[in-house]
Amino acid sequence: MSMYGALRAARRIADWPLLRPSRTRWEERQFLDPQSGAAYFGVYASFAQARSHLPRGPGFNLGALALEHVQVRMTRVFEYDYPIMRWLERAFARGAARVLDIGGSVGVHYFAYRRYLDMPESLAWHVVEVPEIAAIGRGLARQHGAPALMFTSDLEAAVRTGGHDVWNCAGAIQYVEDAHPARLLDLCETLPEHLLLNKLPLYGGEHFVTTQNLGEGAFSPMHVYNTGAFIRAIEERGYVLEDKWDVYERALHIPGRPERSFPCFTGLYFARRSDAAG
Ligand SMILES: C[S@@+](CC[C@H](N)C(=O)[O-])C[C@H]1O[C@@H](n2cnc3c(N)ncnc32)[C@H](O)[C@@H]1O
Repeated sequence: MSMYGALRAARRIADWPLLRPSRTRWEERQFLDPQSGAAYFGVYASFAQARSHLPRGPGFNLGALALEHVQVRMTRVFEYDYPIMRWLERAFARGAARVLDIGGSVGVHYFAYRRYLDMPESLAWHVVEVPEIAAIGRGLARQHGAPALMFTSDLEAAVRTGGHDVWNCAGAIQYVEDAHPARLLDLCETLPEHLLLNKLPLYGGEHFVTTQNLGEGAFSPMHVYNTGAFIRAIEERGYVLEDKWDVYERALHIPGRPERSFPCFTGLYFARRSDAAG
């Protein structure tokens, strides 16, 4: 038997219902190994339930997690960034100048996009981040002479009174327990005209929470939302979905749960109804 034939046979045996519980335990141990990095595990009803399966730790509030962002993402754009740059450029051309970047790391999107886009002179780019990452970002903003780039860790205050024209959020709200954009919009005194939501785990099934190994021994719960319900909740707040794209650089594979796994994340652009094309 070839090596692949042997592997397939072993997988079929491991799939036997009687062996499934021990396979799940083995997969969970693999997931919890600090070296395994960026893998997902489990289907839970809430963040509290998901956390009860994780070791205690800092979650995202860990400076070491910024390393790849500083070394790579500050200067590089990826395929999934192009729709964002297209809509951001149009928003700037129409007068937008205040950006709220939720989970924008050390300012990666500001630094990477400014190499490609003309940004307004009066630009204010506010990043909401966990304290450790925000502190690194403030240092980089000083070092690179970027006074437009500012950091806070108070998400609710930033959305409530920030008066931003654009919200940008890439691969981040899913990690915050109560940061569904519909809830954040309900807190807002002045609604943003543009919502740029990238790298979201959306799929056709019901909402659930999973867990992610972030690397460096850190773990986080993560929401996985139903696509239709997620979009409808934002449309009900007065927004029109102008664009939607697949992000094949991110996929969700949950061991033993093919019905909760999917091959790509999603990007969305919403405009406030009065500003919507047509
Ligand atoms: C997967 S990273 C994405 C970073 C960046 N937006 C990108 O696309 O490369 C998720 C980001 O969300 C941030 N984050 C997680 N929980 C947060 C919270 N409660 N408040 C603010 N930011 C948070 C993390 O620190 C991290 O920078």
